[in-house]
Amino acid sequence: MLEKEKMEYLEDRIGTFPCFPLSLLPTPCHRLDRLSKTLGLGIYCKRDDLTGFGLGGNKTRKLELLVGEAMEQGCDTLVTCGGVQSNFCRLTAAAGVAAGMQVHLILGGGRPERKTGNLILDRLLGADIHYVSSSRWDDWEAESDALVEDLTSKGRKVFKIPIGGSVPTGATGYVSAFLEILKDEERLGVSFDHIIHATGSGGTQAGLVAGKALTGWQGMISGISVSAGKEELEELIYGLASNTAALLGGRVDRESVLVDDRFIGPGYGVSTPEGEEAIRIFARQEGVFLDRVYTGKAASGLLAGIRSGEMTGKRVLFLHTGGQPELFAE
Ligand SMILES: Cc1ncc(COP(=O)(O)O)c(C=O)c1O
Repeated sequence: MLEKEKMEYLEDRIGTFPCFPLSLLPTPCHRLDRLSKTLGLGIYCKRDDLTGFGLGGNKTRKLELLVGEAMEQGCDTLVTCGGVQSNFCRLTAAAGVAAGMQVHLILGGGRPERKTGNLILDRLLGADIHYVSSSRWDDWEAESDALVEDLTSKGRKVFKIPIGGSVPTGATGYVSAFLEILKDEERLGVSFDHIIHATGSGGTQAGLVAGKALTGWQGMISGISVSAGKEELEELIYGLASNTAALLGGRVDRESVLVDDRFIGPGYGVSTPEGEEAIRIFARQEGVFLDRVYTGKAASGLLAGIRSGEMTGKRVLFLHTGGQPELFAE
């Protein structure tokens, strides 16, 4: 099939999935002119920080399919988990409000003394918040399972969403985003050699990689890890991308899953000097705000790649996945 026919086929196929539309699409995609000039290559930005709903971010694309599935199953309650400043939890709370569902959030890392950033929004949205002191993702999932059992025994019909919504249904939202990027290429008259973005629970990257496999796109996709090591995360994303592509009748090559774990710093959610520098550069050269947990670290990987010469002469697309409420967090 030609690329255009493949795109139409995929759009039609994804169009049959239950969906509760949330995002304002397509998101803008534009050249970062000053940064491109300073760094000597074409840098473009796909603005998924501007998906619109609930202050925007990558997770609205996953949630519209997940909430669609929950509604189709007749669920009345959403349960998910994440760190105290989780963007996914904020957006799940907002999606639940819009869908008329109760939302329970398991927030890990301990109850903060002051409510800041995303937590202010979670409360404003009326979500039921359950704090756990552990910082381990496994413990958060175990707490979620226990809560689901408890709510079910009380008669609620619960839809549990794992961390970051990174299951094939959620990742399919990023197959759609990938198709949107191919249309951006056409509109702007450019071919991107490289897409670079922050990767955490892996669903965003899995969807993009599945999109690449399903359309035969030739460029490279790099996820800059904010948490796990390269091998562990690549394996996880490969499995998720394969299951996502399988839903749409395709398969993924292991080599197309590339994670760079050199920019995590001391750990998840701990800012790095390189990330802080990237945040300043994007703000002061482009008026674009990044966050410390995800996009600042991803942009520090982008800048390092350009400065080291790894990306010279290329047209790079930086996928901005959102997360700015974290800038107002302590
Ligand atoms: C702002 C932001 N960027 C990137 C990511 C990473 O996306 P994923 O979990 O799909 O890898 C997240 C996940 O929470 C996020 O909130």
